[in-house]
Amino acid sequence: MIRNQGISNTILDLVGETPMVKLQRITKKLKGSYYAKLEAFNPGLSQKDRIALHIVENAEKKGILKKGATIVETTSGNTGYSLAMIGLVKGYKCILAVSDKSSQDKIDLLKTMGAEVHVCPANVPAADPRSYYEVAKSIHKKTPNSVYINQYFNELNIDAHYRTTGPEIWKQTEGKITHLVVASGTGGTISGTGKYLKEQNPNIKVLGVDAIGSVLKKYHETGQLDLNEVSPYKIEGLGKNLIPTATNFDVIDIYEKVSDKEAAFTAREIVKKEGIFCGYTCGAVLQAARQYEKQDYFNKDSVVVLIFPDHGSRYMNKIYNDSWMKEQGFI
Ligand SMILES: Cc1ncc(COP(=O)(O)O)c(C=O)c1O
Repeated sequence: MIRNQGISNTILDLVGETPMVKLQRITKKLKGSYYAKLEAFNPGLSQKDRIALHIVENAEKKGILKKGATIVETTSGNTGYSLAMIGLVKGYKCILAVSDKSSQDKIDLLKTMGAEVHVCPANVPAADPRSYYEVAKSIHKKTPNSVYINQYFNELNIDAHYRTTGPEIWKQTEGKITHLVVASGTGGTISGTGKYLKEQNPNIKVLGVDAIGSVLKKYHETGQLDLNEVSPYKIEGLGKNLIPTATNFDVIDIYEKVSDKEAAFTAREIVKKEGIFCGYTCGAVLQAARQYEKQDYFNKDSVVVLIFPDHGSRYMNKIYNDSWMKEQGFI
């Protein structure tokens, strides 16, 4: 169904077909034109609605997911919200293992949406039994009639963006896009969207955004998983301490790393200069675009699309709270 035309049958019919907006004041001094794809316009307020719905509906088609079943997942919050919303509409129980880095707002929100939430320590290796990956696996094993969504290692994560986000951006820019800048976590968004766009025009550059404290950039450059790169950081959903198979590194031309502080201030600046109440990784994406621009990746004719992954309301107790910013030493 086409978004906003007629009456939707359920809230799930409103997933995807998100708007794109030209950035005006904040990118004025940068070479090129900049457009933000606003994933906060999904009903679950993030890009994760796309993958959650695609993976659930695929499991239904295969007959793996039946009425009354349980959906289990690891999530920094957004995928969990999307799955909980889908569970409410379609009648599935939802159990989520989340990192203790997730904001309290996000955790409360998941519970409000009817999910059972297990909070796990963020700063332990992925193979540690306390990590949210291992906790989710063990819940899945213990719960009869359950499905593990496994977004980090699920090809359908890439496929969801290949089928929806990529074609939408191609259409919205009338094929004029020259650069795509995307935050990389599981890697589904950058890989699926990037693959589709490069198939339309192989000259399009796919520029990744990674966090200081994550292994992705170095792995992309060297093929080595270097755990010495791992250090704690604050941005949720960006970067990783493992290599997800939902990332197709061949599609990505290069990565830039951004700091917690610069991403936070850039998000605040987007709000003030553009009136877009955006999430933390939107700040990371624009900060990375600025770093790329400084290194002359863009010229006056560049058409740069930034995917803005989620909504600012999820960060009221973090980057939009002065006390939190002071605690981090940012102000
Ligand atoms: C807020 C936010 N930004 C960016 C990302 C990264 O997207 P992807 O997992 O598709 O790489 C995530 C994923 O968890 C996220 O929650």
